[in-house]
Amino acid sequence: MSYNPTGQKYDPSALTSGQVKWKSPSNIALVKYWGKYGDQLPQNPSISFTLDAAHTITSVGFEPKEDDDKIKLDFSFEGKSNLPFGEKIIKFLEKRKEYFPWVTQYQFTINSENSFPHSSGIASSASGMSALVMCLMDIESQLGNKKIDLTKASFLSRLASGSASRSVYPELSIWGANSSIANSTNLNAIGYEGEVNPLFSTFHDDILIVSATEKSVSSTAGHALMNDNVYAEQRYAQANANILKLIRAMKESDLDTFGEIVESEAMTLHALMMCSTPSYVLMEPATLSIIADIRAYRKETGHHVYFTLDAGPNIHLLYPDNIREEINVFVEKQLKKYCIDGNIIRDQVGKGPKKLL
Ligand code: DP6
Repeated sequence: MSYNPTGQKYDPSALTSGQVKWKSPSNIALVKYWGKYGDQLPQNPSISFTLDAAHTITSVGFEPKEDDDKIKLDFSFEGKSNLPFGEKIIKFLEKRKEYFPWVTQYQFTINSENSFPHSSGIASSASGMSALVMCLMDIESQLGNKKIDLTKASFLSRLASGSASRSVYPELSIWGANSSIANSTNLNAIGYEGEVNPLFSTFHDDILIVSATEKSVSSTAGHALMNDNVYAEQRYAQANANILKLIRAMKESDLDTFGEIVESEAMTLHALMMCSTPSYVLMEPATLSIIADIRAYRKETGHHVYFTLDAGPNIHLLYPDNIREEINVFVEKQLKKYCIDGNIIRDQVGKGPKKLL
């Protein structure tokens, strides 16, 4: 699969030094990407809210070097040189340099930091990889004197980590082809531009941190287990149906249907893990206690508050801004006690990556 145009090298005498800096957010999938094939292509379409508070800030300094066709960079994470991460980035750039051939004309100094603690169990690949790619796209746009190509940024982010493809757009992104969604493709995410009730732009996502330990099975390994999962085909069909139902619900402001689909997607994701071979469980006892409390609270109050999960035990609590005061009382009184050190990341739907330098 290739991207057209793929990029170019530049006249060595015209190369300059500089620095760029970008902040890029994490995202939370409402319909989940779980299962991939070929070169980082999704088995089904997914849709996500772009977040805001959970983000990565990355700066990339660039200086011309002799073009010996080698990637040269120093990488620091949160102020400390980090060789394993640096190696990962070198490997990514090596593998994908046909898309930005000019990367071998420069040496780079990269600094990256997350807004959330490493131990919070929040997936950092979506924000981390999209922040790096936005920096590279920015440099490319300066070299070529043109605007940043967000489609290419999403395409390259996808090659680094699937969910990262969705972080480059504001508010709502769709990644993966569905014949009823215009312009949707497996190659890159698109910003959803169809009609959606404005209420959804006000959504909060309180991330309740119930475990700080590293996941026992990585997302990449989890995706691979879908290849032999007996429910895989039904799952991909369900995701295609759910994404259309969800978009309709968001258009019609049907919060009940929205919540039903979002919670079912979270439960399906974890059910797929539990029935993989080998089977594994990423939910913790506290995850189930919180789910039970959310459902009881919703029944009692009628408030539109829902949960979702990514590939880990932490709960994402989703609700519109017009009930934030009531939900805050509920969270403080009833849910905070389940969180490690009372740790909650209060996030909300965000506007996508931002250039800082
Ligand atoms: C459960 O994007 O982390 O969060 O493509 O292997 O990097 P790779 O996987 P990744 O998978 C995320 C899976 C998920 C669901 C989602 O974000 O859609």
